[in-house]
Amino acid sequence: MSATLVAPSILAADFANLQRDIEMVNKSEADWFHIDIMDGVFVPNISFGMPVLKAISKHANKTIDVHLMIVDPDRYIKTFADLGSNVLTVHYEACTHLHRTLQAIKAEGMQAGVALNPHTNISVLEDTIQDIDLVCLMSVNPGFGGQSFIENTYNKVKALKELINKKGATTKIEIDGGVTNKNAKQLADAGADVLVAGSYVFGSENPPKTIANLKNLLS
Ligand code: DX5
Ligand code: ZN
Repeated sequence: MSATLVAPSILAADFANLQRDIEMVNKSEADWFHIDIMDGVFVPNISFGMPVLKAISKHANKTIDVHLMIVDPDRYIKTFADLGSNVLTVHYEACTHLHRTLQAIKAEGMQAGVALNPHTNISVLEDTIQDIDLVCLMSVNPGFGGQSFIENTYNKVKALKELINKKGATTKIEIDGGVTNKNAKQLADAGADVLVAGSYVFGSENPPKTIANLKNLLS
């Protein structure tokens, strides 16, 4: 089993010092950049959009994992590809034609991700799991950083891992929300491949050290 990846969420960075924080992640042991795009409709918050992602892409030298918390994401697939996204995740709850959306993401050369809200059962992915590169299990209700981890997530990781194995899929499991040193190891043991961490990393005194400690727990 390969080591679980760590993806700092830029939502918790200091936007007045964004280049500094991007360079910090570049130099750290982190694996991916996690970028949260919120439209104020699908979720009750607006984060940032294309110009900011463009600026991040210019400096980031690791995989750019974009999490779209927006309605009708199909409208922007090409735009996000052009902005340098490597993984593009849409919400199951925001897609009427999920299968078509996944094909469109891959056609633009990106890995296709699907995020599930805490209330959405993993069984809704029975018929698409083989077409999904990454499932992002929301371990908080999407919209804000700094919320508490929902404990039922452990059950969902296990159930999702069973579904992936049953279907012979190679889908990665990502956990997003409330990740800390308290739950990281248990999530990895349950089958998580990527852990997103926002406030735990950027709210700490020494973010690169916090990232290194998380990686150490997971090795
Ligand atoms: C929540 C976002 C998360 C968030 C995680 O809607 O999708 O990626 O930034 O932040 P923390 O780690 O603070 O819960
Ligand atoms: Zn996210």
